[in-house]
Order: sequence, then structure tokens, then C-alpha cells
Amino acid sequence: MKIFLVGGSGQLGRAIVASWRDDDVVAPAHAELALEDRAALTQALVATRPDIVVNCAAFHNVDVCEAEPATAFAINALAVDTLAAACAQRGIDFMTISTDYVFDGVASRPYTEDDCPRPISAYGASKLAGEHLVLRRRTNAYVVRTCGVYGVQASRSKGTFIDRIIAQARGGEPVRVVHDVVASPTYAGHLADALRALIATRAYGLYHAVNQGAVSWYAFAAKALELAGIACPIEPISAAQWKAPARRPAYSALENAALRRLGIAIPAWHEGVAAYLQDKGL
Ligand SMILES: NC(=O)c1ccc[n+]([C@@H]2O[C@H](COP(=O)([O-])OP(=O)(O)OC[C@H]3O[C@@H](n4cnc5c(N)ncnc54)[C@H](OP(=O)(O)O)[C@@H]3O)[C@@H](O)[C@H]2O)c1
Repeated sequence: MKIFLVGGSGQLGRAIVASWRDDDVVAPAHAELALEDRAALTQALVATRPDIVVNCAAFHNVDVCEAEPATAFAINALAVDTLAAACAQRGIDFMTISTDYVFDGVASRPYTEDDCPRPISAYGASKLAGEHLVLRRRTNAYVVRTCGVYGVQASRSKGTFIDRIIAQARGGEPVRVVHDVVASPTYAGHLADALRALIATRAYGLYHAVNQGAVSWYAFAAKALELAGIACPIEPISAAQWKAPARRPAYSALENAALRRLGIAIPAWHEGVAAYLQDKGL
């Protein structure tokens, strides 16, 4: 297939480029193509004539979104809608990535696609608006929510959560991790494989796609250190001790209910950690 990837230089975008080797993937970096540049996007679609456009780009710094909701909605909702429309007009399939932050976090079991979203941050609200704008068209589109993505080629200079934990432990710094926030952290390589399998089904719609299971960030960090062979105590802290401008869901584990109905399985969260450490040579 010919794939046009927006946000291709991010951690999920890079994992897709690395994993979808049998496809022809065109993946411009942000500096080459901005999601909100309608004219450039149209030109790129005309020039490349892809079978599907996959959007991995987002304005996703949760605290910055809280301060700049207009920009969050312009990129995460309106620009995504424009791209979906451009694809629909040309008969091109469309996939966009959304987030666990569309949920409020009061659940005590992983959210399925049938659960009602109720975002508690501007970021979550803007991503949910993007979902609705895409799905309302009832065209050949996939909206895929994921959670806590970490990839071998993280675009952020700080590296991934696992990189930071390992660096702190090896550097003899205290390792403090929240114990009362539960999620489904997801390895970008596993997510990329699942997205490709989903595209092959042509079963358009709303999906959750995460490494299976629910885990606190504390337990996740402990497993990462254990698998990396690092013996280091971790101090559990409460999310209340970690002051941030935007509210975040305390529980945002997702269940891949719709993917499972298609026979697509994603490994468990601890297998994601193991694969990440192996692929990164840690
Ligand atoms: N990371 C997570 O924990 C997480 C959790 C749930 C859902 N998601 C969703 O998963 C998707 C992929 O996230 P990721 O973790 O791969 O993020 P990432 O590593 O930050 O990658 C996003 C990529 O999109 C680019 N980008 C940002 N704004 C853009 C714009 N306006 N136009 C074009 N490109 C733009 C970024 O470039 P620059 O870096 O140069 O700006 C970057 O290359 C996003 O939709 C995100 O909302 C992520």
C-alpha cells in the first residue's frame, strides 16, 4: 500500500516507518509539512496519491493545551477534520490517532469503545472533538485511541519515561514515581503492528489499541528496572504531589475490545517493556 504519514518524525510515526516495511510510506517531518497547512496537504495528496493517510501529528503537550485551547482545537480537531475531508473527497482511507485522555478517569476497569468519553482537560476535549468530526462523516476512516506511548525513537529530547527512570537509577538519583495513576502504557512498535493489521481489515470505525492490561506508573517503572537488570528502590508518590496546570485522568487504562473482535491482539504491557528494552539495546 502507499501510505502518507503526517507526523512521521514522532515516536509512533518512526515506529510505523520502521515496521511497515512492505509498504511505500511517505513520511514528511513537521518542518516539511504542517497538519494545519491545508494547501500543502492537498498538494501532497495530489502528488503522492496514497491509499491511506495516517495522522500521527498532534498538539499534545497537555499543560500547554490547557493554556492554549484555541490552538489545541485548531490542530487536534479542525485540522484533522480538514484532512479527513480531503481524503474523503479523493477516495483515500484515513486513520487518526486519539487518546485515553478523552476519559475522565473515574473508572475502575479498562475503558472500552462503548464507554462514554468525558474529558477533563483541553487536550482531551480537543482530541475528542477531532474524533467526532472524523466519525461524523461516516467515511472510510479509523479513529484509534492509544495510551502512554513510548518508542525507540522518541522525538522528545528528554527520551521516554523508561529512559528517564533508568537514567535516574543508574545516576544514583532518587527515583520517585506516582503509584495512584493507572494506565495502559503502549510500546510504539507493538502499536504500529496493530495499526497495520487493522488497516488490512478495512473495518472502519473507533478502536482502542494499547498493550494489554492496566498498570500504575509505579509498577510499570519497577518492571522496567527489573527487566533492565537494575536493582534500585523506587519511592511511590501520589499524583497530588505532582502539581500540573491541567487535570489528568487517574485511571485511563483501555481495553482493545473492538480490535479483539477482529482477531487482532496486542501483547501485554510488560511484554511491551521487554520489547522496548530489547529493541533499544538497554
Ligand atoms: N505519547 C503519548 O503518550 C500518547 C498517548 C495517547 C495518545 N497519543 C497520540 O498519539 C499520536 C502520536 O503521538 P507520539 O507519541 O508519536 O507524539 P510525538 O512523538 O510528539 O510525535 C508527534 C509528531 O507530530 C509532529 N507534529 C506536531 N504538530 C504537528 C503539526 N501541527 N503538523 C505536523 N506535524 C506535527 C511532531 O513534530 P515536532 O516534534 O517537530 O513538533 C512529531 O513529529 C498523537 O496523536 C498523540 O495525541 C500519544
